[in-house]
Order: sequence, then structure tokens, then C-alpha cells
Amino acid sequence: MAGCSEILPLAAGRGEDEAVAADLRLACDQFPRSSQYHPDWVVASASGGANALWMTEWLTAALALRPGMRVLDLGCGRAASSIFLHREFGVQVWAVDLWFSATENQQRIRDAGSDQGVFPLQADARALPFAPDFFDAVVCVDSFHYFATDDLFLNYLTRFVKVGGAVGLAGAGLMRDIDEAPPEHLRTWWTPDVWSLHSAAWWRRHWHQTGLLDIVLADTLPEGWQRWLDWHRVVAPDNLVEIEAVQTDQGRYLGYVRVVGHRHDRTAPPDHIVSVPAQYTKTRLLRSEAP
Ligand SMILES: C[S@@+](CC[C@H](N)C(=O)[O-])C[C@H]1O[C@@H](n2cnc3c(N)ncnc32)[C@H](O)[C@@H]1O
Repeated sequence: MAGCSEILPLAAGRGEDEAVAADLRLACDQFPRSSQYHPDWVVASASGGANALWMTEWLTAALALRPGMRVLDLGCGRAASSIFLHREFGVQVWAVDLWFSATENQQRIRDAGSDQGVFPLQADARALPFAPDFFDAVVCVDSFHYFATDDLFLNYLTRFVKVGGAVGLAGAGLMRDIDEAPPEHLRTWWTPDVWSLHSAAWWRRHWHQTGLLDIVLADTLPEGWQRWLDWHRVVAPDNLVEIEAVQTDQGRYLGYVRVVGHRHDRTAPPDHIVSVPAQYTKTRLLRSEAP
């Protein structure tokens, strides 16, 4: 495959095995676990963002996942990352997404033989149906910037994670923040929603300010812009606007970011108020009114 630093030596076989071995799309020594998955499955499970397996493999390198742990895969899209998490680490995964249906994801999960450990749910990240302290980890794969740039979101999310548990994100981001206008070479590609992309340093500060997590890591993927190109050339080769933007940029602004924090017990997440009891007492509106 063009782009990855080295092609994995896949065993050559006969017939179908041989065809699979010859299909080196998305095989990459940077991501040995992901490279075991068939490129047709990875492409068919794409949700419109980054390569979910590459991002999940990178993120999990910074998480101490153990079999049986409960993991929330928030903004899981077509649940490729959820299946990967269950298969690779033996964790139980709640696969939550807003746009993609739980019915479709359940079919994909069942076909992958993961329905004992991956539970799909269509829900909004801002209205989660879970009990406090339920999860050992929350992972967000190329999804956090869609719903979590709000200053209050981490307060809300952290309550679902046990003390000592992890919150982690990995996905598209900026290598350095942009204050006013996007740089000239990115303007054709840049749409208003791109402003939700941020640097690892931005996320670190954003999370640190809440005082709820110990931030253990905030970094960028080496050669991330090249992996972005590698993935796009396979999954969306006609999207020339994005391909040209990433190629011209050469990693100056665009790439992948990763942030991991652990919930500590020094500060409790604030209460999440969803409604205040109705309580009305009529009073005089103006000083001039008679009592
Ligand atoms: C670029 S896709 C990434 C999906 C998947 N994690 C992957 O890497 O393939 C972004 C995902 O964020 C999800 N999303 C956006 N807003 C959301 C919200 N408010 N609650 C839950 N999911 C949301 C979308 O449904 C979409 O699947």
C-alpha cells in the first residue's frame, strides 16, 4: 500500500487466501492489529471520518484495557471500533451513536461474532441513558469534536466513568490552533464545521480546566497527515478537495490528535441539572403598584 512506512508481510496462500494476501490496501506496520482486518470490511464499516481501526489501535496503546471492563464507545459510527475493542481486548462495549442506526450496527456486530460483548444504542452523547460510575473507560474515535467542544460537556461525561477510569479521544485535529481565518491553502476545503477541530494542546487545556481528570497524555500521530491521505485514497478517492488540502498542507495544520485523562477522586463532577421543579409566587411587578 502506498504511504505506510512498510508493507506488512502477509502470508501468501492459494485461491481466496492469495487474493487477500495480495490486497494490501490499509495494511500498515504502524497498526499491526488493524492490519489483520479485511480492507473490504474496514471500508464497508467507514462512517465518514478517519480510519476507525487505526485511531482505536493508537488510542488503546495509551489505555490499560483488561477483559471484562465496561467501555463506552461514544460516537462509534458504524461500530467498527466497538467490534475491534471487544475482539482485541475482551472488553464489553456499549456502542453509542447518533446518526447510525442500532439495527444496522447490530447486524454488523452479529456478523463479526461480537454480539455477546458489543451492545449498540442510538442516542445523543448529551443525553446518555447510563448510571453514574458505570464505565471503566470512555473512548471517542474521531467523534469528540462533533459534540464535546462545549465547556460543560466533560463535566457531564465524567460522571459516567468510575474513579480511576479513563476518558480518551483520538481523531482528526490540528497540529497548531488557528485563531482567525483558515490558512490560504486550506480555504477550499474549510467549511464552518471544521472550526471544531483543535490541537492536542487545546484539548489538554480544555480538559485540565475542569479539574476532573488527570491528563496523562495529549499528543499527535507521527506522520498523521500521511495516514489521513492513505485512508482517503482508499475510502474516498473522488474527494479531491480533501485529498489536495491534506497533500498541500503536508502536516503543517492537519493530522490526528490523541488525549487521555483519568478520573480522580479530588473533585466530583457537578450535578447534571436537567430540570428545576416549578415554583411560582405572584409578586408586584412595579414599585408603584399597591400591595
Ligand atoms: C466522523 S464520524 C466517526 C464515527 C466512528 N467513530 C468512526 O471513527 O468511524 C462522527 C460520529 O459522531 C457521531 N455524533 C455526532 N454528534 C453526536 C452526538 N451528539 N451524539 C452521539 N454521536 C454523535 C455521528 O453520529 C458520527 O457517527
